[in-house]
Amino acid sequence: MENEDWVYSKTVREHFLNPRNFLMGDESKFKYDAVGIVGNPICGDQMKMYIKVKDDVISDIRWKTYGCASAIASTSALSELAKGKTLDEALKIDAKMIDDYLGNLPKHKFHCSVLGHDALKEAIKNYRLEADKK
Ligand code: FES
Repeated sequence: MENEDWVYSKTVREHFLNPRNFLMGDESKFKYDAVGIVGNPICGDQMKMYIKVKDDVISDIRWKTYGCASAIASTSALSELAKGKTLDEALKIDAKMIDDYLGNLPKHKFHCSVLGHDALKEAIKNYRLEADKK
């Protein structure tokens, strides 16, 4: 059984150890169009999500977090799922889809997968608010 020694699936571990689209270093190096910043009310961890948008499509995405291994793996998966999607499609990505992509997070870590998703929703909301002003 794969999870005999580990609580996390092989896919979760792989995304935690090699997070996709993680923003390394100074955020000024990534020219984003909008950012979403949220905190997790359950554990107090934080997430920042940066998006580039072209023709209503997320053309690129980066993120940073103080969250745990589950949050890192979940947001890595989310960033892969969101890149190339329209803003409306990206908003439809939910915790279940992320959980399925990763091969199931431990139940008590499910709230961690919401952190990246909430930050993405916030980034899209902020992008649309700015777009409406133009
Ligand atoms: S325990 Fe805080 S994001 Fe997982």
